[in-house]
Amino acid sequence: MKIYSAEFVVSNTAVDKCPKDRIPEYAFIGRSNVGKSSLINMLMERRHLAKTSSTPGKTQLINHFKINNSWYLVDLPGYGYARVSKKKKATFQKYIENYFLQRKQLVCSFVLIDCRHDPQKIDLDFMQFLGENFIPFSIIFTKADKLTPAKLEKQLNSYKTKLLEYWEELPTSFITSSSSGLGRDEFLNYIAQINKDVANS
Ligand code: GTP
Ligand code: MG
Repeated sequence: MKIYSAEFVVSNTAVDKCPKDRIPEYAFIGRSNVGKSSLINMLMERRHLAKTSSTPGKTQLINHFKINNSWYLVDLPGYGYARVSKKKKATFQKYIENYFLQRKQLVCSFVLIDCRHDPQKIDLDFMQFLGENFIPFSIIFTKADKLTPAKLEKQLNSYKTKLLEYWEELPTSFITSSSSGLGRDEFLNYIAQINKDVANS
């Protein structure tokens, strides 16, 4: 898929204030600092479309980006950021959950995992939450540039083995690097295919 346009539309905290148009929507979720916003910029080949930071907790709202005037990519706040106050964390958690539970346009969500990390409870729990609520998801491994190819393969294999303790089938997964552009074509082709399926359904 070629990207002709990528524009920021709106930020908010309430799912009922999200854009009303009925076009397919895809959301990025994962721990703070995993690279959600950077990945959006890499995929769209726009450096500053989504705000990024080396300090976790940068994205604090539901951000809608309209792509090619035909689908939305949504950047969400990260979960598991220890330094956000308990109250703020609970508020984040609530509106993120509401977003996933109520957003009818959401076609597929992507759980981002830093490829350097072993499976963490908070990610497994979030996938569990999506599964229990019949919300389709895929996994995106991020920051692949930080590992050697051999280490990356080993790490991903052990991650998948762990997932098979919880899931009968592995979800679709992508390996990406926002610094090298790895995974861009695969991801965009995947979206193009789903958009086509949605249009024909
Ligand atoms: P929150 O908004 O806080 O939830 O974080 P986020 O998931 O949006 O992460 P963000 O994109 O802001 O990136 C966090 C840090 O990781 C930044 O310093 C990025 O430069 C860095 N980073 C993100 N993706 C990659 C990657 O693929 N490779 C490398 N080397 N660094 C990355
Ligand atoms: Mg962010």
